[in-house]
Amino acid sequence: MAAVLELIAGSYEQITFGYRVKTDEKEWTAKADFTHHAHTASISAVAASERFVVTGSKDETIQLYDMKKKTEHGALLHHDGTITCLEFYGTSHLLSGGEDGLICVWSTKKWECLKSIKAHKGHVTSLSVHPSGKLVLSVGTDKTLRTWNLINGRSAFIKNIKQNAQIVKWSPDGAKYVVVVNDKVNIYDLETASVTATITNPQRISCVKFLNNSILTVAGDDEIVRLCDTGKEKWVCEFKAHETRVKSVESFCMEDYCVIVTASNDGFIKMWKLHLKEEPESPTLLWEVNTEARVTCLAVWKPSSVQQMIEEPAAEATTSEELAQELSKKKRVKISTEEVVLEDESKPKKKKKGGGK
Ligand SMILES: *[C@@H]1O[C@H](CO)[C@@H](O)[C@H](O)[C@H]1NC(C)=O
Repeated sequence: MAAVLELIAGSYEQITFGYRVKTDEKEWTAKADFTHHAHTASISAVAASERFVVTGSKDETIQLYDMKKKTEHGALLHHDGTITCLEFYGTSHLLSGGEDGLICVWSTKKWECLKSIKAHKGHVTSLSVHPSGKLVLSVGTDKTLRTWNLINGRSAFIKNIKQNAQIVKWSPDGAKYVVVVNDKVNIYDLETASVTATITNPQRISCVKFLNNSILTVAGDDEIVRLCDTGKEKWVCEFKAHETRVKSVESFCMEDYCVIVTASNDGFIKMWKLHLKEEPESPTLLWEVNTEARVTCLAVWKPSSVQQMIEEPAAEATTSEELAQELSKKKRVKISTEEVVLEDESKPKKKKKGGGK
């Protein structure tokens, strides 16, 4: 089935690139859709919701772009330092992290900062929202892994990991998470919050992306992209994707295969087709483009989900306000309560529309 989506890339050259992709059984085509020059320094992070694209930069601003109207939607000014990470939670919230050590929770309705959390003593290097939307993990240059209760903005757990981690990421089902330190992927179990396995990449890792709940795509300071089975704790596939180091990796799944998107310092963005089988074979190249820029970050915007949003405006509004209200509460929630809440999430009891991916 044909679908339309867009690849969004940020670059050292301050430019954001948009490539509109048409997927087809036989041939994939993509053409330059827009370039946007809103920043005055290199772009360090990008994220896409169903409607908005946000880019964060060394210029300390987050720029908003409305994909529906194809217009600039203003800038989010709160951080005092480079924006290091951006992540949407559904369509209702955006989380940003920066070198100022802050995590900011933004409402996507009015684009106001609902919570500003002093998260780390050094920089915030990475954050990841649990699929339930209630917990956020963050890592920073203070050698800690922190867990935040997104409902009240309070710290739930602090773990001293003795080293500075560059990435933290939940698996899609939220049952485990990975913490990347230099060339190592540490796999944590949610229930025990302890490392169950460590997998070492030959090079320093710059980006990871879960393809499903067990397969993690790993790339870094070389031209090879590797797939790791986090359940079996071994590498299952690798392929040469670029001429130089890979800066960003994204993915999305079609009906019967997954597409890995890679971006590199060599200027290229490439899409790879991979069949998720027991023994994955090397992916085949679907499409590539030379941006002639040094791409630093990547996001995939899927307008197909916009329709869903339009069809369910009421549900969307309820979810958003409810969460916003929760977020503004000052009530202290005990850690034990926290765990119960998460266990409840595994049984789909309070399923929220528009939440998660
Ligand atoms: C993920 O994909 C692999 C194939 O690469 C498959 O063997 C495995 O069962 C899948 N895991 C889950 C949890 O879906």
